[in-house]
Amino acid sequence: MVHAPEITDYIKTRAKAMDEVSDQIDEVNLLKLKQNAKAQLEKSQQDDNDFEGESKFDSEKDKSVFRQYENACDRVKNFYAEQHTKQTLEYNLRIRKEFRETVRARMGVWEALELLNTLVDESDPDTSVPQIVHALQAAEAARKDGKPEWMQLTCLIHDLGKLLCFFGADGQWDVVGDTFVVGCKYVDEIIYGPESFKENPDYYNEKLQTDLGIYEEHCGLENVMISFGHDEYLYHICKTQSNLPKEGLWMIRYHSFYPWHRAGSNAYRHLMVEEDEQALKAVRAFNPYDLYSKSDAPPDVDELKEYYQGLIKKYFPKEIEW
Ligand SMILES: [Fe+2]
Ligand SMILES: [Fe+2]
Repeated sequence: MVHAPEITDYIKTRAKAMDEVSDQIDEVNLLKLKQNAKAQLEKSQQDDNDFEGESKFDSEKDKSVFRQYENACDRVKNFYAEQHTKQTLEYNLRIRKEFRETVRARMGVWEALELLNTLVDESDPDTSVPQIVHALQAAEAARKDGKPEWMQLTCLIHDLGKLLCFFGADGQWDVVGDTFVVGCKYVDEIIYGPESFKENPDYYNEKLQTDLGIYEEHCGLENVMISFGHDEYLYHICKTQSNLPKEGLWMIRYHSFYPWHRAGSNAYRHLMVEEDEQALKAVRAFNPYDLYSKSDAPPDVDELKEYYQGLIKKYFPKEIEW
């Protein structure tokens, strides 16, 4: 049993690729968020204006955000082609069983953050924000907004599941990317739509391509399998090994579940129970700290270490079995 996993060159290469694609994925979601906010604003302005009001839909600025969005989508196309092909029901059942049955490493949460940070060379000009910087920026943004300690900590750890890179993961399609429900119809809200699953055998299984698929109506998202990755992995660790409240656990489990939580989406409502409405609120409250904090000034890691170690102690009383 390894205490902490060894970082080989192979893992480093994988991690770098993962980091790049993960940043590109965030960019798509950030631009989509900006687009939605703009559309919302324009709608409210239009409601107030009369029919003669100046058209805003074709302003230069809109075009530029739209173009940026299109370009960002182009960059992640190959990634999603692979993710949508390989995230089958069979894979999802198998990987969950594997993870339940093995302990891959033992270490504390801060140690894990530092380890994740070593995966990608900080001096690399191609990579934007080192993992620990993103973690601390998100946490500090929540702290400045007066969010509760458990939420600050949730922000700090939300991407720790990327440690999967050490445990034999490919690092891309099985670790990062927007997530979706496996075992039922692919919804339109998934990036590139249902058509993008044409290489996935589940796409041709009629039983899986109904609204409910393998699930029962209003069975609750807790009982639904979401495509496996860093969210799901960390969620299961925190669920059994932390004192985080359920809102924190939801934020972790669903933070990449954009087809469901993106503003305006109505996907998967037929699978939800009442409590999932609370989960949705929690994830939407968390999302800006993930997406918007990357442009904040880089935090002083050494200065903040003590404060966050205090929070870790409170919510993770024991060393973690990863
Ligand atoms: Fe994430
Ligand atoms: Fe993140």
